Parts: sequence; C-alpha cells; structure tokens
Amino acid sequence: MPFAKVLTGTQSTVPLPFKPTGLNGISERMIVSHHDNNYAGAVKNLNKVELELAQINSDTPGFVVSGLRQSELTFRNSKTLHEAYFANLGGDGKRSGAIEKALGEAYGTSTRWEEQFRATGNGLAGGSGWTILELELATGDLRTIWSGNHTQTLSTAVPLLVLDMYEHAYQMDFGAAAARYIDAFFANVNWDEVNRRLERALAAAKVLRG
Ligand SMILES: [Fe+2]
Repeated sequence: MPFAKVLTGTQSTVPLPFKPTGLNGISERMIVSHHDNNYAGAVKNLNKVELELAQINSDTPGFVVSGLRQSELTFRNSKTLHEAYFANLGGDGKRSGAIEKALGEAYGTSTRWEEQFRATGNGLAGGSGWTILELELATGDLRTIWSGNHTQTLSTAVPLLVLDMYEHAYQMDFGAAAARYIDAFFANVNWDEVNRRLERALAAAKVLRG
C-alpha cells in the first residue's frame, strides 16, 4: 500500500467536542480561550514551521534546521495533546468499565492511581507541562507520565487520559489554585472516551508484541 504524500502547512484545528457552556466548574470563557488561542495558535505555528522545513536543503545551516525541528516537535505534540485533552473532557467524571478494572489491577485500586496522577499534576503547579496516563506499547503497562513541556512524552506510548497543566489551562478560573483545577478536571473527565482509547491501544500493543 503506498504511503500518502506528506503535506506541509495544511494542519487544521478540531472543534471542541462538547458544548463549552456545559462543563462543571470550568468556564466557557476559559475553555474557549484555551481552544481558540493556545491550541489554535500551536496549529497555526505548526503550519508555518512545516512550510519552513519544506525549504531546507544541504546548505541550510545546522542551527536553523535544529531550531525548526525543535519547534516542529513542540507544536506537533501540542496539537496532538491538546486534541486528546479536549476530547477527554465533557463527561460526568464517573470512572467505570475496562479502565477502572485495569487501573485497579495495575495499581491496587484506581483510587491509588488517581492519587498519584493528581500528585503528578500538582507537581507541575505554577509551571507548565502535561500529566498523562499512557499505555506503553512495548510493555503493555499503564504508566503515569510527567512532561515539563510538549516534547517530553514517553516513546511508544498511547495517551489515554491527558491533563494540561500549563497555567493557561486554569489561571483564568482558578488563579494559582492548581489543585482546584485538577478537582474540576476529574469532575469533567469523559471516561467513555478513555475506555475507547484503551481498547484501541490494547489492540495495537497486542499486534506489536506478537
Ligand atoms: Fe493548553
């Protein structure tokens, strides 16, 4: 099967997958600003970087190429992680199904996993980064990941639950009270979406591990 041609500068934004007025404790103003400014800005920048990268050749100075490649990774991961973040919101926060069972098996109880996930998010308070529950494809393990920016994600892992800990994700509604934002995040998690991601990730891990 032929590979699709790699296009440059054609990335587009995905609309919010829920009514922005419908979140519990997260304002329409903040979530729309986050989507329309931070996320859409990353996509816009990604397109610009892609077009610049399409022009590089053997004469392009190494520092120029390195800077563009670094920016490409930043904006591409920002796009991916923001889309996963928005898509795992809009739910009722009630954890059930395969993910509840899997977290209990992996961590003793899912409550214990949540305690560690919240602590990881709080560790980023006042700074920036992501806290992510991932399925590591190479091992099939569920892991909670800390990322201080957009580029520190775990290799070969599929994001299942993504928490944006950049201040732009909470400052407008919660000021510096990051723990209250994490409470609001958990009250709005769409666990059905997380279960869909887990099912697909498990299928991929099974194929890759033979
Ligand atoms: Fe963000």
